[in-house]
Amino acid sequence: MAQTHFGYQTVDESEKARRVRGVFDSVASRYDLMNDLLSMGMHRAWKAYTVAVANVKPGDRVLDIAGGTGDLARAFARKVGESGTVVHTDINEAMLRTGRDRLLDEGLVLPTTTCDAEHLPFASGSFDLVTVAFGLRNMTHKDAALREMGRVLRDGGRLMVLEFSKVAAPLAKPYDWYSFNVMPKIGRFVAGDEDSYRYLAESIRMHPDQQTLKTMMKEAGFGHVDVHNMSAGVVALHVGIKC
Ligand SMILES: C[S@@+](CC[C@H](N)C(=O)[O-])C[C@H]1O[C@@H](n2cnc3c(N)ncnc32)[C@H](O)[C@@H]1O
Repeated sequence: MAQTHFGYQTVDESEKARRVRGVFDSVASRYDLMNDLLSMGMHRAWKAYTVAVANVKPGDRVLDIAGGTGDLARAFARKVGESGTVVHTDINEAMLRTGRDRLLDEGLVLPTTTCDAEHLPFASGSFDLVTVAFGLRNMTHKDAALREMGRVLRDGGRLMVLEFSKVAAPLAKPYDWYSFNVMPKIGRFVAGDEDSYRYLAESIRMHPDQQTLKTMMKEAGFGHVDVHNMSAGVVALHVGIKC
């Protein structure tokens, strides 16, 4: 069997999906709190920027992949209105259920389905916009997932990938110190799970940098790709156009 990375470990491809599922099964109930703590609230600004760049209009059809607890799906649902659609999806039932319950509590009823980004259960050309926030890093075959995202977009549609990326050199040391010394400890004390937050730090380092991901998106069929760095490259938003 082919091998891949799970953080810094080399594992069989089938093992990676199982271990990623274990991480998100474990963190689902504390996911939102941990996001706020670990990013010091900054994930809200990164997502708000993504929604602003997306500039969706009433009537647009949006697919949120790896949507987890639903931050992006909720923001888009308010903008596309009743004439539009936002489909909230994730491979992990615990994450999706947590998100669905949260959206229902806020009065939002969205079509929701569990699915693997590498095999999307949607017809080709179904969406104007596909988004994936902090999800691509966890996927086993990123190239296959990017091609699937392109397939379900209409011609001229956009894929927005919000993901951790390569931080600017002067920040690399303090960022590493924070990632490997502080994050796992907060994980242990708040979520009772140190290992999942060590995986988070490692998986960020193993993820393709800005230029590599841009090349991957072009190879997956996106004719034009823009990169927006945020927080000195801690995070990058890649916007690919299917053209
Ligand atoms: C860090 S969470 C991000 C959740 C949400 N998008 C956010 O920004 O808060 C990553 C999500 O990716 C999902 N995921 C991992 N592999 C996936 C795959 N192959 N297909 C779809 N979702 C996947 C996980 O289940 C998890 O909910």
